[in-house]
Amino acid sequence: MTRKIVVTSALPYANGPIHIGHLVEYIQTDIWVRFHKLCGHECLYFCADDTHGTPVMLSARAAGIPPEQLIEKVHREHVQDFERFHVAFDNYYSTHSPENQHFSELIFKRLDEAGSIVKRQVEQAFCETCNMALPDRYVKGTCPRCKAEDQYGDSCEVCSATYRPTDMVNPTCATCRAVPVLRSSEHYFFKLADYEERLKVLIGQGYTQPSVANKLQEWFDAGLKDWDISRDGPYFGFKIPGESDKYFYVWLDAPIGYIASAKNYCDREGLDFNRLWPGEHASPSDSDEYELYHFIGKDIVYFHALFWPAMLQGAGFKTAKKLFVHGFLTVNGEKMSKSRGTFVTAATFAEHLDTEYLRYYYASKLNDSVHDLDLSIEDFVNKVNSDLVGKFANLASRSGPMLTKKLEGRLGELDADGRALIDRMVAERSQIVQAYEALKYGAVVRHIVALADEANRYVESKRPWDTLKTDPELTRVTLTAVINAVRVLAVYLKPILPVYARKVERFLGLSELTMADLDSVLENHSINPFEHLFKRVEAKQVKKMIESSKEPETSGSSGDSSNDTPSFKEQCDMSDFGKIDLRVAAIKEADTVEGADKLLRLTLDVGRVDRNVLAGIALAYKPEDLVGRKVVYFSNLKPRKMRFGVSEGMVLAAGGGGKEVYLLEPDDGAQPGDEIR
Ligand code: 2FM
Ligand code: ZN
Repeated sequence: MTRKIVVTSALPYANGPIHIGHLVEYIQTDIWVRFHKLCGHECLYFCADDTHGTPVMLSARAAGIPPEQLIEKVHREHVQDFERFHVAFDNYYSTHSPENQHFSELIFKRLDEAGSIVKRQVEQAFCETCNMALPDRYVKGTCPRCKAEDQYGDSCEVCSATYRPTDMVNPTCATCRAVPVLRSSEHYFFKLADYEERLKVLIGQGYTQPSVANKLQEWFDAGLKDWDISRDGPYFGFKIPGESDKYFYVWLDAPIGYIASAKNYCDREGLDFNRLWPGEHASPSDSDEYELYHFIGKDIVYFHALFWPAMLQGAGFKTAKKLFVHGFLTVNGEKMSKSRGTFVTAATFAEHLDTEYLRYYYASKLNDSVHDLDLSIEDFVNKVNSDLVGKFANLASRSGPMLTKKLEGRLGELDADGRALIDRMVAERSQIVQAYEALKYGAVVRHIVALADEANRYVESKRPWDTLKTDPELTRVTLTAVINAVRVLAVYLKPILPVYARKVERFLGLSELTMADLDSVLENHSINPFEHLFKRVEAKQVKKMIESSKEPETSGSSGDSSNDTPSFKEQCDMSDFGKIDLRVAAIKEADTVEGADKLLRLTLDVGRVDRNVLAGIALAYKPEDLVGRKVVYFSNLKPRKMRFGVSEGMVLAAGGGGKEVYLLEPDDGAQPGDEIR
């Protein structure tokens, strides 16, 4: 039976590049969509840029361009990034679109008519310098609970308290550091609690994975609160009809962007949108033709499991059948980090490595749970080389070239052994299909790898390179089986590795392979010259990519460099600290450096050896005052070649530089060479 399916992925914000963390979701969804297409179903994949809100407005302001220009530029970049990773949307649109405005206004109006919208006065932090109401994340101050400094206005990263910016101690505007004032303003609220029973019914029907449903139950138990859906200008978004300076909050119109993208597609392709996503003119019960699914990350469950379906229910639109929630990406077991170079953008990855490597690696680790997924660089290199190169590409390269070069590129017929091999491979089909359908891609990959192993063992046992000399026709029969095995693997792998599958199709002289092709075998058929499938990956290529992704971590994540309250770098563990070799050193000699009025050349006694260090402390210390002093020395810092010589390590000091430099000094008793721990 042919199914009709509509699938969405969360809309990426239009204020930054796509990175490997985002790609977990787009690759997960794209594989699912491609799998359904491969099975012959009609499956449409919609997404868009999430363009509205304060961060986009402020980024555009900082760049000196209108927000429309910024979001257009980012849209082009996002489209290119998705293409590089073969994420094939049927429509990739924008929330800043006439369709989205239409549906946002319509849904809002219907919710209002249903009595689900109320207006209330709110007290909000307002920055008189920036002349705007400050969103929670744009207020920084001291946590009212644990008194940790430099926390955001919505929650404390130290004690996890949640609060309102107006509850903070010493709040400041994160952009300009002015002290905000309190202003009262009328806001619109969506009465989420009115939907509790209907939401529970939806969740009872299996809308989410069980672990997500448990979390939702906690939220129900805590009580659903009204949701503030308006923002005061200046704001980049859609104006609320009838208001002069109030806008829909970005999270109201963002999910409506799914509908807008679908509508835009239907209008372009001549499809009946009211059947695809009933609600505007038809009622949801009029048509259940299309199954609707959303893919999201675990951080936005509240929006997609509560606000969004409640909005759809209240406005008479169809809700999704399922919400698939995945976890976050970690790299080598840790959060992605700019300073460690693991915050790799899609563009950087594509510059260094074949993007199908990442598709394959993610697939091999993905399942239907909300657990985080770890990209271990070592495991990544091993998997690519062992599976893609060593198993899939190898099988093709051991059969294709021999057949084209020595046996006129013509397949023969399968013998009993060959037929048995292919039958065993095809018999796995229903298991593989079920695993794909259930998002258990790790299991899909394990099945396929086991089949590739079996096919490779088949080649070993038949030794075509030997039989070629004695019995070319027998060799043709062997290679016919191997080529059929390559074809079966290409079908199974096609959702994960579309480019590999396309190359196999070309080299086997076939049109688009589908799941239905497993019902037949390829015999007495001519193939084309072999195309190279995968190159080995070297660890050094990955290292280079990581190196080129390294950036100094900005304090906090507001991107605000004018931060004048202390903020600490991200946490590291003892093993990170253990890499740093700190020693006590005594200054034996100190000299000025000609031509460099900030530098002193220090000769340090670091135990049994001397080291030379160029230190930027000349404005704070006279050389003669330093001789004999003990300092803290960072001994295993790589030597740095400077214009005035090589500096071997570094001495540690506090202060902001210039005249404000305060050398760290160990207490009496510490000896040169002593380790500091
Ligand atoms: O969290 C995010 O990145 C949001 N831009 C996702 C929006 S998904 C949908 F609701 F639009
Ligand atoms: Zn300000």
